Amino acid sequence: MTERSRAYEDLPREHPFEPLRVEGELPPGLEGTLFRAGPATSGRFGLRYSHAFEGDGAVCATKLAGGAAFGAVRMVQSDGYREETEAGRLLYGFSAPWWRRMLNLARGKQKNTANTAALVWNDRLFALMEGATPVELERETLETIGETTLGNVVGRTFSAHPHVVGDRLINFGSRYGKQPGVDLYAWPKDSACRHLGFAPLPDNRMIHDFAVTERHAVFFASPVSIQLLRAILNIGPFERLVRWRPELGTEVVVVPLAAPERARRFTTEPFFQWHFINAFEDGEELVVDACVYPNFDSMGAIGVDGVELALPEYARCRINAARTSLRRETIGDAPVEFPSVLAEDEGRRSTDAFCLSMDHGRRALIRVDPERGVVDRFDYPEGAGPSEPIYVPSGPGGAGHLLTLVHDADSHTSALHVFDAQRLEGGPVARAHYDHHIPFTFHGRWAAA
Ligand SMILES: [Fe+2]
Repeated sequence: MTERSRAYEDLPREHPFEPLRVEGELPPGLEGTLFRAGPATSGRFGLRYSHAFEGDGAVCATKLAGGAAFGAVRMVQSDGYREETEAGRLLYGFSAPWWRRMLNLARGKQKNTANTAALVWNDRLFALMEGATPVELERETLETIGETTLGNVVGRTFSAHPHVVGDRLINFGSRYGKQPGVDLYAWPKDSACRHLGFAPLPDNRMIHDFAVTERHAVFFASPVSIQLLRAILNIGPFERLVRWRPELGTEVVVVPLAAPERARRFTTEPFFQWHFINAFEDGEELVVDACVYPNFDSMGAIGVDGVELALPEYARCRINAARTSLRRETIGDAPVEFPSVLAEDEGRRSTDAFCLSMDHGRRALIRVDPERGVVDRFDYPEGAGPSEPIYVPSGPGGAGHLLTLVHDADSHTSALHVFDAQRLEGGPVARAHYDHHIPFTFHGRWAAA
């Protein structure tokens, strides 16, 4: 039987930085802040949202300094969220009255839920979601500064899955309608964001994440069709905005970053991925690692417990030099999700990836060597819900720490768990406890002090 997961229950309170209870010893030298974002409401004003993805976003910051830990969490005050607060009722989304949805359509307005990822780049903090522009926040107080187009550069959307390769951040924004495709953006360190170009797609598809190498952006446009009329008219429920159409196959799009107009495209068998692990150039070929599902059933498992579904595999996909075919093999047998590699390795051949592994309610943190499979793991007891592990290097040779925000179902509280990244098996070396739960967070970034 399925039921709504307690980890997704509404944020009980917002607060500025306050001390967290620390168990164990925080590693000396591990100083900085982990920013994370996720949906923090399951509805408003007595109405329930139909899917976790509709939840209004909050950003949570866990700061480690001088052997102590501090936590802060705030709702993202996007324009739409603030308007609803002032009106005392829902004005956007599927639960708004039909006339209001028509008005939103006429005005071209939607609520920016900012509920998918926290990004720190060029000393600025943003909350991101895939169907809107970034929302900027103040780093110390988490107060919302406002929605931004990064200086009139970003169109309607800026995905929640940017990748930093070398010294620039690469991201995309989906464009829907008669000429669907993706806009590509490059935002170098200490410089301004710019639009690189546009790569068309054959039809309107949901694209959650992409892969980036030093020279290319790669999209696996799985056959998840956006139901455009429903999306435009805001007709719910959320899950029916998208439809799994395996007969279309997965469209692979390889975009040269230096010349996006020279993108190459081919169709391969249908599969789905939320997340990419890493990608690199191997001579003329491209190697793309992703957490691959055979279908789109996982959409219905987000925010609820007890859904039986095919689990994601660590897939290594090799795209040939002519960009006409893809060869896919599975590495190891552990399910993998929410992957991260060493930041300096993004876009290059990397050694290990850290992932969340899940198997029928049981979760684990694993380290996967693409040559050997799982080389280290920590299994959580039932009821413990870790989130995306973030790898923080501390020195040469792969030394570092792994951080994950964990929800404990028994106490219904959350804590930051700190692992020695070389020894997951030994369990967390420190835990920093919030006195309440943080609703499940999807993605975040570590900002060193
Ligand atoms: Fe994601």
